[in-house]
Amino acid sequence: MGFPILKIPFVALKVLLDHLTIVELVTVSLLSKRADWFLKACGKKNVSFFNLPNSEIRNLSDFEKLELFLLESRRQRQLPEWRFKLFCSVSSDRHIKIGCTHFCIEIYIETLYDMRKFAGIRKSLKIGDSLIPVVVTRGYVGVERIRAFAKSNTDGMIVFIDYFKKRFNFSIEKLELAERNAESIKTVVNYLNSTQAVVRNVECYPPLSEKDFILILRNVSATEKFSSYLKLSWNFKFKETIRAKNIEIRLGHWFTIENLLMSNESEVIHVSGSDYTKKELRWFLKKWREGKLPKLKEVILATKVSCWDALEGCERWEGACRKCDGWPGSVVIIKGHGDSHGCFHASDRNSYRMLIHDN
Ligand SMILES: *[C@@H]1O[C@H](CO)[C@@H](O)[C@H](O)[C@H]1NC(C)=O
Ligand SMILES: *[C@@H]1O[C@H](CO)[C@@H](O)[C@H](O)[C@H]1NC(C)=O
Ligand SMILES: *[C@@H]1O[C@H](CO)[C@@H](O)[C@H](O)[C@H]1NC(C)=O
Ligand SMILES: *[C@@H]1O[C@H](CO)[C@@H](O)[C@H](O)[C@H]1NC(C)=O
Ligand SMILES: *[C@@H]1O[C@H](CO)[C@@H](O)[C@H](O)[C@H]1NC(C)=O
Ligand SMILES: *[C@@H]1O[C@H](CO)[C@@H](O)[C@H](O)[C@H]1NC(C)=O
Repeated sequence: MGFPILKIPFVALKVLLDHLTIVELVTVSLLSKRADWFLKACGKKNVSFFNLPNSEIRNLSDFEKLELFLLESRRQRQLPEWRFKLFCSVSSDRHIKIGCTHFCIEIYIETLYDMRKFAGIRKSLKIGDSLIPVVVTRGYVGVERIRAFAKSNTDGMIVFIDYFKKRFNFSIEKLELAERNAESIKTVVNYLNSTQAVVRNVECYPPLSEKDFILILRNVSATEKFSSYLKLSWNFKFKETIRAKNIEIRLGHWFTIENLLMSNESEVIHVSGSDYTKKELRWFLKKWREGKLPKLKEVILATKVSCWDALEGCERWEGACRKCDGWPGSVVIIKGHGDSHGCFHASDRNSYRMLIHDN
């Protein structure tokens, strides 16, 4: 729109508007309140980015989608039912991703200091009260990359998270953490803890120091799934409760039976790379039967102990369990707390896997 559209006489404007595409109309209506008022006066009453059909949105560039989305989300009090999700990655590159039924846009966060390194189209985005400089580049195969610049990488990230959290109560669908620079992790997790942001899934990858890992455990809890792929030293110890519904630990020799018993909010716990002893497994089983892990539905622990050994002395029977239908062969069943029972696969060798069912 290279000319001052609002200076055109009303009748001419009306004719002009009839020639604009629906996307152009949205762009005009988002220019200003006055522009939108003119559109309405000309009979274009329902012009909104949120009313665009998918076929139109799909044809926009990522930056256009992001810009129109941000402008429209500022204007509207509510977002449409597009199942918005916000992802956040603090790793070798730092980016956030906004996904929904109509688009998925990644925004890489860089420092202002580095801005001169990037050649591309310079733009800016208004997010909350901040005006964020942006450079849009296109790679060899035409892949668009949006880079947003802030005082620090984490500042830029926090501006986006903060805006969506405060304005639309977004939770973070997934937080990925893998970073050599401890300050980044510290800033992000402190921010999340202090604003009590809801994080649904947390994934920790190397390289992450043990110190940073503890910091993460203390500051953010995943409501859905907590996954760790970290190789931690043999003497690594922690006494924090992991509250996620689902816990997945690889290389988990450090995840002791005590840690397992502290995770009493969890429904599913998988630990590989562990080597639980018969004594530990039996202690865990005892606690489970006493009802110390009331929500547990499935547990898989790496061990060299056969399930027969671990179950020695337990009241148990072999049989069929309706709910374990998918399992071939026979099932060993033990009585649990309340009405529940636990099922083991008789031929499990290197893991201790129990499924728990309520009768
Ligand atoms: C506005 O457009 C949307 C989507 O195209 C439609 O569902 C809605 O009914 C329209 N509202 C009015 C007032 O025309
Ligand atoms: C989307 O772009 C394609 C290719 O440029 C074009 O053929 C199609 O008509 C466009 N669709 C819409 C809804 O504008
Ligand atoms: C915000 O979202 C959380 C879940 O992510 C929910 O528990 C809370 O009730 C929501 N708050 C408001 C004001 O909608
Ligand atoms: C969160 O992390 C900070 C370090 O950044 C630490 O000082 C603080 O104790 C942690 N919060 C909690 C609740 O442990
Ligand atoms: C965040 O910090 C508070 C203390 O301010 C603490 O009680 C809470 O457990 C922390 N959140 C976590 C670990 O999710
Ligand atoms: C988990 O353990 C804590 C501390 O012992 C206890 O307060 C809490 O009620 C337990 N949660 C469940 C679901 O049993």
